[in-house]
Amino acid sequence: MPATIVIGAQWGDEGKGRVADWLAADADIVARYAGGDNAGHTVVVGDNVFKLHLIPSGILHEHVTCVLGNGMVVNPVNLLKEMDQIAALGVEVSPERFMISSRAHLITPAHVALDGASEKALGSQAIGTTLRGIGPAYLDKTGRKGIRAGQMLDIEAFGDALNDMIRRANVTLTAQGAQPLNPDLVTQDYIEAAVRLRPFIRDTSTYVNARLKDGARVLCEGAQGTLLDVDHGDYPYVTSSSPTAGGALIGIGFGPGYVDRVMGVAKCFSTRVGSGPMPTELEGDLASRLRGTGENFWDEYGTTTGRPRRCGWLDAVVLRYAAQVNGFTELFLTKLDVLSGFDEIKIAVGYSIDGKRYEFPPDRLTELEKAEPIYETLPGWSEDITAVRQASDLPAETRTYVQRVGELCETRITTISVGPEREQLIHL
Ligand code: IMP
Repeated sequence: MPATIVIGAQWGDEGKGRVADWLAADADIVARYAGGDNAGHTVVVGDNVFKLHLIPSGILHEHVTCVLGNGMVVNPVNLLKEMDQIAALGVEVSPERFMISSRAHLITPAHVALDGASEKALGSQAIGTTLRGIGPAYLDKTGRKGIRAGQMLDIEAFGDALNDMIRRANVTLTAQGAQPLNPDLVTQDYIEAAVRLRPFIRDTSTYVNARLKDGARVLCEGAQGTLLDVDHGDYPYVTSSSPTAGGALIGIGFGPGYVDRVMGVAKCFSTRVGSGPMPTELEGDLASRLRGTGENFWDEYGTTTGRPRRCGWLDAVVLRYAAQVNGFTELFLTKLDVLSGFDEIKIAVGYSIDGKRYEFPPDRLTELEKAEPIYETLPGWSEDITAVRQASDLPAETRTYVQRVGELCETRITTISVGPEREQLIHL
């Protein structure tokens, strides 16, 4: 550090929460910079499983200050629920340790209703959003009609702004054939939340910069993933923010000179929730084996929505692209233990589209939708590797696999995880 950015290299759910939790041990500040409670980070500490949607996982380290950056969209009611849940597990969430940017935008009931109505109207073209109101909140932000967290400091004016927003949304909802909202009914919880959240609101960019000048180490915790980025992802099957490296600077408000580490996080197979292209997607038995049964929290079911994730072989085309867009200085490979027991393991090393080979995803969706993966097949391994802590104790086939992934995406793999517990890591 001074500043490390942790970024998902695929379509989200790569295991960034556990990576951020590990790196937070050496950080002074952990800040989120994009998205909202569409994210779901699971962190295991001893017998406790923490499912965090908004609060950075750094909150689990007592010495860390956590920041919700200006690039985020925050649902105040859901944030309070999360704060209360983790407080009940004994984690202190005080204004000294947890701050919300006054410039962050708020997700209101209007945004949640509009998200649902928009998805319904899209029918078979639906994006498969998390229905948390993310897209409509960013739409209001860029349309300069949003409500910022700082507006909660003046409760009366906040109530008026909320009412205006709901009235405006009702026009759209009615036009789409959806049920309009009753402002009196839906605003009360938000006004109560505003009263409780006021002590946590401040100019976090100024705070983070002052701490950086004093030598503090800042960890920027990404949400979602590179292929869900509104610019660099599979548009329109993306989220409405910038989870990539550049987004961290905008979404927290500091300059690039502080960044000395950009860590990509990739799962050793592919998963995706929601619609959109996924060239290595598998069906049937292989997909079920990668997905797991759902009995364990680390199986491939959405943390936020519970939806089964689409599963497939690792796509090195995607990783190569993510390394390029973000400028990864290293890669953390997660869930390697899940590949134990496969006779052979495939990696997509390129795409074939209309007979032409591609090393990077094409920039037009119509081309990407035709992509056929070009696979390389590697031998699998049967050993359970969950107890391995040294790279030299890994089966030779596992080491070959990891080395090949690093070569294919031209990035040094520095750490792998072989299970969900904090200590189930191998440093290479
Ligand atoms: P939204 O962010 O709710 O608007 O959803 C847009 C797309 O991003 C959908 O395909 C979602 O499934 C996906 N998405 C949003 N957040 C996450 C996440 O944290 N993990 C994985 N996919 C996500």
